[in-house]
Amino acid sequence: MSGPRPRPGIMDISPYVGGRAKLEGESNPIRLASNENPFGASPKAMEAFRQAASHLNRYPDGGSTALTQAIARQFAFDPQQIVCGNGSDELIGNLVRAYAGPGDEVLYSAHGFLMYPIAARSVGALPVAAPETNLTTDIAALLAHVSDRTRLVFIANPNNPTGSFLKRADLLRLREALPEQILLVIDAAYAEYVAEEDYEDGAWLVSRFDNVVMTRTFSKIYGLAALRLGWAYCSAPVADVLHRLRMPFNVNLPAQAAGVAALEDQDHVIRARQHNTVCLKRFREGVCALGLEAPKSVGNFQLVQFPSQETHNAAAAYSYLSYKGIITRGMSGYGLPESLRISIGREEDMETVLQALTSFLRD
Ligand SMILES: Cc1ncc(COP(=O)(O)O)c(C=O)c1O
Repeated sequence: MSGPRPRPGIMDISPYVGGRAKLEGESNPIRLASNENPFGASPKAMEAFRQAASHLNRYPDGGSTALTQAIARQFAFDPQQIVCGNGSDELIGNLVRAYAGPGDEVLYSAHGFLMYPIAARSVGALPVAAPETNLTTDIAALLAHVSDRTRLVFIANPNNPTGSFLKRADLLRLREALPEQILLVIDAAYAEYVAEEDYEDGAWLVSRFDNVVMTRTFSKIYGLAALRLGWAYCSAPVADVLHRLRMPFNVNLPAQAAGVAALEDQDHVIRARQHNTVCLKRFREGVCALGLEAPKSVGNFQLVQFPSQETHNAAAAYSYLSYKGIITRGMSGYGLPESLRISIGREEDMETVLQALTSFLRD
């Protein structure tokens, strides 16, 4: 075939398929496919968004200065070490663009977030998946898969979709064992939901190592997924690299304004976390009482494993729940075809899911 051809690797990408938002014939489905905050954004963030509408003729501040400073204040970080992005997806992509290229390897954990292999392939690098143990990132397995071509290692902590997490000591062990030219990226998209004391979002490691990046998002607990807003905390040299690669106005004006206001409303965050803690526990107990396997999760979602027989497997459960107006997420793309991932929604929604699962298993 003649004509333009994409670079090697591009046609190997399996395009990212987001969670469904609609169900045919259902005007108001229960949406539990994308780990969104079921209560929406803070009213303060929504007001800031509305006010930003008066300035839509103006370009945004390319450096997201006010937002960067607000994040720095909130977390007591140096603003020089913060870079805002069009979702943390943009930052993941730019880190890979910056540090990997054709022939290089990008290492991640087998059931890790799908953007890591996509970003790797987009630059012609090879994504390398290390096996997990008990649906948890296995440090020894990761280290065994490091080669002299490895450029980046991605860890989602907690991991989506398994909901498992690594302790600070494990992350430290990993960083210390990795060659120093390898960049370790800790993707802490769900950090705000985690209550476990020995959990580490990555910030502590960034403060000690120049070759660690922590990424965060406003898409989950802050309820701003539609605005595409994330940020990275990293050493000043890595921040400099990310600033060179980002689009000049990568974060739009309403997103910056809403992000600043959202940070000011920590009560909204606390309420969402408290709701999640209670509802996640109750939901998992309910699922296990039905005889299904549900590994402990510290995120705002629960992986549910279904039996293998065709009438009651994950695909059948997905269809049945859809028929009941509930959208969940199939996990074949994550190498877990026997599982569904179900986000934690409102209390009444989770009750509806449990009732639907009860009748699904009974029928
Ligand atoms: C582990 C993980 N990292 C990153 C993201 C992307 O977040 P954002 O909306 O900030 O691009 C997601 C979204 O689902 C995620 O689960």
